[in-house]
Amino acid sequence: MSDIEVIKKEIEEQIAKAEDAKALDDVRVLALGKKGRVTELLKTLGAMPMEERIEFGKKINVVKAELETLIANKKQELETKLLNEKLKKEVIDVTLPCRPEVQGRIHPVSKVYEEIVAIFAEMGFSVAEGPDIEDQFHNFNALNMPPNHPARQMQDTFYINSDATKEFDMDTACVVRTHTSGVQIRTMEKQQPPIRIIAPGRTYRSDYDATHTPMFHQVEGLVIDKKTTMADLKGCLYDFMKAFFEVDDLPVRYRPSYFPFTEPSAEMDIGCLKTKEELKIGAGTDWLEVLGCGMVHPNVLRAGGIDPDEYQGFAFGMGTDRLAMLKYGIPDLRTFFESDIRWIKYYGFTPLDFSSMTSGLSNNGGLAR
Ligand code: PHE
Repeated sequence: MSDIEVIKKEIEEQIAKAEDAKALDDVRVLALGKKGRVTELLKTLGAMPMEERIEFGKKINVVKAELETLIANKKQELETKLLNEKLKKEVIDVTLPCRPEVQGRIHPVSKVYEEIVAIFAEMGFSVAEGPDIEDQFHNFNALNMPPNHPARQMQDTFYINSDATKEFDMDTACVVRTHTSGVQIRTMEKQQPPIRIIAPGRTYRSDYDATHTPMFHQVEGLVIDKKTTMADLKGCLYDFMKAFFEVDDLPVRYRPSYFPFTEPSAEMDIGCLKTKEELKIGAGTDWLEVLGCGMVHPNVLRAGGIDPDEYQGFAFGMGTDRLAMLKYGIPDLRTFFESDIRWIKYYGFTPLDFSSMTSGLSNNGGLAR
C-alpha cells in the first residue's frame, strides 16, 4: 500500500470512530487542516518530476474529496443522532389526561363569543373589527347622530381628550366606543355590498349595577344587499336565537323601538319563565329583551359611501354578556370582571370543549362545575 493509501485508511477509521462534532472536527484538522496529513502530502508535490507530480496530484485531490465527503456525511449522522436523543428526552405523552388542578378555564364571555361566531359563520357571515377608541364620526355622526342629537345623551359616553398637551376640547375629543355600531361604517368604507358581517368587541358606558358594567361586550351585525328586507332580519335573528339557546320552539317577539341609525327600528324579546329560583328560556309567559335591530337608515348608508337608492340592509346589536347571563344562569354581571378564581372555576368551561355547529355548541358536559 502506498503512503497515501495508508494515510487515507487511517483517517477513514478515525472518522468512523468520532463520537461527537468536536472529535470529528479534530480529525478534519489533522487530515485536511493547514498542517494536516493530506495537506503535507500536497506540499511534497513541488519536489517531484513533472509526470509524477500530475499523477500524484490527481490522486491526492481524489482522496481529499473523498475524505471531505466522508466527514460531511459523518457530521450529518452525528447531528441526527443528537437530535433524536434530544427528542427522546423531551418526549411529551399527549395521551396523559390533563391535571385538573392546573387546568385553566374558558370565561363565559369567551365561550359565548365562540358560540356566536360559530352560528353566524354557518350562515355565511364573516367577522369584522374596529378600534375600542373611536372618533365621534364613526361612533355618532355617521350613524345619523350629529352633534347635539339627543340620542348622544342616552349613552353615558366616556370622552377622551384627543390631544393631551391641550385643554379638553369637545369638538375634537375621541370616545371609548359606546357601541359596536361604528364598525358598520368602517366596514362600508372598506367594502361595497354585498356585506354580511358580525363585529364582536368591547364597549364602554358610564353605568354600574347588577346588569351594567362600565365595560361590556356587544356583537354587531350588518347585512347589505340589493333586496335585503325586514323579513330577512327577522328570519336571521330567529334562527340565531334558536341555535344559540339550543331551544327549537323558542317564542320571540319584536317590539317597535327607536335608534337614530335604523328605520324602522325594533327590539327583540325572547319568551321565558321567571321564578324566584330560576330563569327558564323558551317556556312561560315572561319576555326578556335581548337585542336592538332595524333597517339601516339611508343617511347611514350614505355616510358609509353606499348608494341608498341601490342598496338596503339590516343591522342589529346585542349584549354578549347579557346573553351569557341568560344562557348559563349567572345572576350578576359585575362578577364577570372581578377576576375571582373561585367564580371562574364554577362558571368557566374546560378548554378542550370548543364550540362548533357539528360537535355541539355549548357542550354543557364541558361546564367546569
Ligand atoms: N347600537 C345599539 C345599542 O348599543 C344597538 C343596535 C345596533 C340597534 C344596530 C340597532 C341596530 O343599543
